[in-house]
Amino acid sequence: MNDGVNRPVAQVGSDPQLVAFGDDVRRQALMPGWDFQSVQSNEPVPVEVPYRWSWAEVLRPMMVKAYDLVDPVKAERRNLILMNPGLKRAASTQTLIAAVQGVLPGEIAPAHRHTAGALRFMIEGRGSFTNVNGEPCSMDPASLILTPQWSWHDHANETDRPVIWLDVLDVPFILAINQWFWEPFPHEIQPRSRPSGENWKRFGAGIVRPVGPRVHDGPSPLLVYPWERAETALRELAEVDRGDGGVTVEYNNPVTGGPVLPTIGCFAHMLRPGGVTRLHRTNASAIFHVVRGQGVTIVNDQKLEWETGDVLAVPHWTWVQHENRSATEPAFLFSSTDRPILEAFGIYREEARNGA
Ligand SMILES: [Fe+2]
Repeated sequence: MNDGVNRPVAQVGSDPQLVAFGDDVRRQALMPGWDFQSVQSNEPVPVEVPYRWSWAEVLRPMMVKAYDLVDPVKAERRNLILMNPGLKRAASTQTLIAAVQGVLPGEIAPAHRHTAGALRFMIEGRGSFTNVNGEPCSMDPASLILTPQWSWHDHANETDRPVIWLDVLDVPFILAINQWFWEPFPHEIQPRSRPSGENWKRFGAGIVRPVGPRVHDGPSPLLVYPWERAETALRELAEVDRGDGGVTVEYNNPVTGGPVLPTIGCFAHMLRPGGVTRLHRTNASAIFHVVRGQGVTIVNDQKLEWETGDVLAVPHWTWVQHENRSATEPAFLFSSTDRPILEAFGIYREEARNGA
């Protein structure tokens, strides 16, 4: 008799009668449960791989090449999807898709909406607009702009310089549950029915909110998150919280305190000069973007060297450690994860440990 420690699981052997019964079962649109159980790993094994896309060597030059070749109205978007080499589909991690998108002066990217939730993080240029449900949202350097699930959105560049940003969407998750709805707006751009900056005036204060019914879920009514606020929060937190090589803050929904989107959480990270973070893993997969600085991120046994503008895919349930290569300047990262999906279903996990 087994004492229950490291007990064998679903090993039923190869008794001919049992094998024949398994065959009978399969002919009836059934599957032996013990066969299913016997092939499951005890922990998730990511299919996606750790990967870095270089801004200077790949993302920016490829986007510049696309300027002349791709019309964003005909193509719906001039974007390049960051396809994870481990996933042979349009996905950067198992649940998230990242892309770089460029809009030239005078161009628009047409209005549409979809069940996939999306965010934009500015990399190059300032002063273009994403119109969200009729409100022009200004896209300034390193700002985060939300286009929540099923919200109308178009992009317009009324400046005299090209703009490029990082898109992150929950498309692979939406496709995995086969819930892709997509609808074009009747016109290429939406009427601007609300004043620019309205969302910020209502919800941007941070420590107070307009009086109204308490809500506990849903996307954030704040649509624009300026980088300066996030960096200030990081620098102030780093003054009082010195336990690690860096500090992290979460962008939040100002009326619920929760994540900015029901499916995607966003975070800003500051690595101290020379800082090395504790080893950490979660079962949330992540897209990291280097806002400023240079360093290396170790994902399990793989080293991803990075510098300003780069984008990293970090698979779920991998040990992660960030290192700032500058001895004098802090480094800043932005990340998006599927943590809200996991938390909603009570299956989020995270662990930390000291040392490499
Ligand atoms: Fe879209």
